[in-house]
Amino acid sequence: MRRSAARLLPVPILSFLVPLGLFEMLRSWGGLDPYLQSPVVHFYLVSIVSFLALLLAAALGYAGMRLRNLGVSFLSLAYISMTGLLMLHGLATPGFVMDHNSVQGVSSQLGILAATVWLWLASLPSARGLAVRLKDAHRWLSPVYTAGLVLFLAISMRGPHTMHNWAMGLQGVRTVLTVAVLLLLLHAAMNFARDYRSAGMPLQLAIVYGCGFLAAGQVVMVNGETWRLSWWIYHLLLLTSLVVVASGLLRQLAGSGASLTASLRAIFRSSPQEWLQRCISPSVQDLIQATEQKDEYTAGHNYRVALYALKLGERMGLSPSELLAVGQGAIVHDVGKLYISEVILRKPAALTTEERLVVEQHPVRGYELCRNLGFMREELSVIRSHHERWEGGGYPDSLQGEEIPLLARITAVADVYDALTSQRSYRQAMTHQGALELISSQAGRHFDPSCVNAWLQLAREEPEFFAKTAQEEAYLPVRTGKPLPG
Ligand SMILES: [Fe+2]
Repeated sequence: MRRSAARLLPVPILSFLVPLGLFEMLRSWGGLDPYLQSPVVHFYLVSIVSFLALLLAAALGYAGMRLRNLGVSFLSLAYISMTGLLMLHGLATPGFVMDHNSVQGVSSQLGILAATVWLWLASLPSARGLAVRLKDAHRWLSPVYTAGLVLFLAISMRGPHTMHNWAMGLQGVRTVLTVAVLLLLLHAAMNFARDYRSAGMPLQLAIVYGCGFLAAGQVVMVNGETWRLSWWIYHLLLLTSLVVVASGLLRQLAGSGASLTASLRAIFRSSPQEWLQRCISPSVQDLIQATEQKDEYTAGHNYRVALYALKLGERMGLSPSELLAVGQGAIVHDVGKLYISEVILRKPAALTTEERLVVEQHPVRGYELCRNLGFMREELSVIRSHHERWEGGGYPDSLQGEEIPLLARITAVADVYDALTSQRSYRQAMTHQGALELISSQAGRHFDPSCVNAWLQLAREEPEFFAKTAQEEAYLPVRTGKPLPG
C-alpha cells in the first residue's frame, strides 16, 4: 500500500496547479468573472474558515500535548495564526465591525504568512531540536503565542490606521512575500512528503495537499481583483486547505479498521500501558524495531523497561503527562546503541577500556537522534541520563542525586532490574528475588533510595505484575496508521 502511495506523490502538486488554472481561466475570459460584491457572504465564509481553523488548532494542540511532540504542537500554532488573522479579516469586512479594506487585505496576508512559517518549522527536524532547548517549550509556546496574537488583534482593531500604513508597506514587498511563502510551502510539502514515504501517515499526506492549496491561495490573493468571482477562489482555497488537513487528522485518528471513537479514546484518554501499545508513533516504532533487531539478546528489553518504569512512575505519583514521557523515553532509552558495532554489543567477554568508552556514548547518541525527532525534554532526559548513578560516577554527565532527572532515576531501576532478570550473551538470568536484593543493596549508591523503596513495595504488593511483565517479548508493533507524527 505504501508503494502505491509513493507513486501518487506527484499528485499533490495539482492542489496548487488546478486552482491557479481555474483562476487564470476566469480572469482571461472576462465574462466568466463577474463582480460579486457580498459582504455578508464574505463575513460568514471567513468566519466559518476561522472557526474551522480554531477547531483544528485545538485538536492538534491537544494531540501535540498528549503525544508529547513539538512537531504536532507547531502544526497547531499554524492554525492558531490562521484563526486569529482570519477573524480579523472577517471583522474588517465592509459594513461589519471595522469597515476597513486595508485591514482586510493585510490580515489575510499575515495569516497565510504566519501559518506558512509554522508549517515549515513543523517540517524541520532541526527546528524541533531547537525548541527542545527552550525550557518547557510545549507548555508556554502555545499560550504565549496566542496571547501575542490576541494583543495584536486588539491593537489593530483599535488602530486600523496603523494597519492601513502596514498594508501600504506590504504592498511594496508583496512579490517578495509571495515568493517567500511559496518557497517555504514547497520546502515544507517536500519534507512532509518524504516523511509520508517512510511513515505512511494520512495526516502527513493531507499536509502536503494543504500546502498546495495554501500556496495557490497566496497567489490568487495577491493577483485577484476584490469581489470578482476569481478573487473569491482564494477564500475557498483557504477553506479547502483546512478541510483537507482536518480530514487527514480524522483519518489518522480513525486508523484502518478501528472505530474513530476507539482511536480517539486511545490517543486522548488511554491508560499509559494502552497508549504504549497503540500510540507510539511510527518513527519511534522504527527506532524500537531497529534496536531490537540489532541486538537479539535485548529484544523485548526496551518494552519491558518501559512497562516497569511506567508502573514505578505510577507508584511514585507521577502526573499523566510525566507517565507518558517516562513510557516514551524508556521504550527508546537504548536507541543510541544503533551506533555501536554488533561485535562490541554481542561480545561475551569483558570489554576493553576503549570498547567501554564506545558503549558509554550511547545515551548521548540516542539523545541527539531523538532531539531531532521532536522528542520533549522529559523523554530526552530519560535517554540521556539512565546510566547516571545516585552517588555520582555514572555516565555521560556524571550527575549526582537530584541533579539526575527523576524520570531517568526511575528508568535506571527498571533498566537494571530487567537486565538482571534476562539472559544476556555473557551471563545467565538472575532470579526475581536475587535482582530485588541487589537493587536494594544499591539504594543510595547506584539508585535513588525513594525509587528503590517504591520498587520493593511494588514487589511486595503486586508480585504477579513482575511475573507477567517478565514474559513480555519484543515490542514489534503492527503498523496501523493510527499514530501521529513523532
Ligand atoms: Fe542504556
